[in-house]
Amino acid sequence: MSIGVAPLPLIPYPTSVSAAPPVRLTEATRVVTGEVTRGEAFLLAAAVAERTGLGMELVIGVSPEPGDIVLALGEGGSDEGYSLRTGDGVLIQAATPRGAFWGTQTLRQLIARDADGWFVRGADITDSPRFAYRGVMLDVARHFFSVAEVCRFIDGISAYKINVLHLHLTDDQGWRIEIDGWPKLTELGGRTAALGDEGGYYTAEDYAEIIAYAAARHMTVVPEIDTPGHTHAITVAYPEFTEQPVMNEHLEADAARLNQALPVFGEPYLSWGVGFSSVKVGDPATDAFITDVFTQVAAMTPGPWVHLGGDECLGTDPADFATFVGMASAAIAATGKTPVAWHEAGRSGALAPGTVGQYWGFRTPQPGVADAARTFVEGGGALIISPADAAYLDMKYDDSTELGLAWADGPTSVEESYAWDPAAVVPGVDESQILGIEAPLWAESIRTPADIDYMTYPRLPGLAEIGWSAADGPERTWASLRERVAQQAPAWQADGIGYYRSPEIDWPQA
Ligand code: ACM
Repeated sequence: MSIGVAPLPLIPYPTSVSAAPPVRLTEATRVVTGEVTRGEAFLLAAAVAERTGLGMELVIGVSPEPGDIVLALGEGGSDEGYSLRTGDGVLIQAATPRGAFWGTQTLRQLIARDADGWFVRGADITDSPRFAYRGVMLDVARHFFSVAEVCRFIDGISAYKINVLHLHLTDDQGWRIEIDGWPKLTELGGRTAALGDEGGYYTAEDYAEIIAYAAARHMTVVPEIDTPGHTHAITVAYPEFTEQPVMNEHLEADAARLNQALPVFGEPYLSWGVGFSSVKVGDPATDAFITDVFTQVAAMTPGPWVHLGGDECLGTDPADFATFVGMASAAIAATGKTPVAWHEAGRSGALAPGTVGQYWGFRTPQPGVADAARTFVEGGGALIISPADAAYLDMKYDDSTELGLAWADGPTSVEESYAWDPAAVVPGVDESQILGIEAPLWAESIRTPADIDYMTYPRLPGLAEIGWSAADGPERTWASLRERVAQQAPAWQADGIGYYRSPEIDWPQA
């Protein structure tokens, strides 16, 4: 239910919002919690203290007093749901620490300042998500981002209740994860990045640090080892496991247009073109290598999913492709994880039962693409919906955007990125067969954290709302989102997030 006046500056907009008195924040304001939600309360107190300069004392296991911010676990409610009520202080209640954490993220968006100082806008909120999987993908293969840079990214996206970070860990230009027994993957395959930039990789400890940082923010890491194509970094390290590059029309056209080099077997690949590389299929030594990689990655990953890639395998014969994705998905399933694959893998007819598909066609599927995606559902799996012409964060905003690409039906404005519904993309797939949504940020042209910010904000909040808020929920209009996105700017400025000041939004004065 809407409150009938200007919407609160909340993204994603909650299930139900009604009016309540605001709460003044002072040096006396405390965060009060029980032991179980100590971590969530700590992060809240730290964030509010940082934003406001107030002390925000954290106290565990005491009776709340008037004016306190209270985190309380109670019976009932969904895994991620929560309620938040302002009045005599702020009360956040949830059935789980995860729900309480989302409540704290809502509270952070309610903090504002007037002539008398900081306060929490008044609201009586109940809230729970539409989809369980609300992801963002970061391509750390085309360009490498350090542990600290990834953690900063996690902080930014978790404000919008994103709960999955998909790390695209390997591609033609670089291999970013240490694998025991295969040191050249990182020593040679990890040294490079697109455009000749410096590479890098995560040690097992680095990867564990990212996972722990994400987990403290109720975010699950999904690692992707892209196979059987997008594997030129393996060629650089262990050429015995890969085929010669196979050129294709698009690759050659991209190389000519961008004045970039074509791939050469055994040499690092620093260009942007795709679809030429392939591991050897049906070769026992290659199968053993791939199985070992997926088994180790699964063992390092506490989350339930491991992504095998499977996209743009123009350099792999279709029968070999089917053989490979059958083998790779079975190897992942054997670890107890659920395999995930880009939608092309659905065409193979060979996937392990229950494999989750990631749809990256357009909002209106191109011929054959919806069929490939439906195969996952028919095989007992589900779909993640990532329409490239709306959810790809690396698409240019308009023709003048210097960063990013435009192959997904041209640039994607902020309004366009919000103009779709996950349940209306793949015909014949209903809401219950959709795990959720994901917004990928590919990094061919994205070289720095500032580039990440520029492409992620302001489109991510609307995409996060599509994943969280009901299609017919309150404030689900572009007119409302536009206003609420503008209201994010002070927090982004305070956090040093260099968002794109899109002319589609009436921003406050910087
Ligand atoms: C993709 O964009 N190649 C999944």
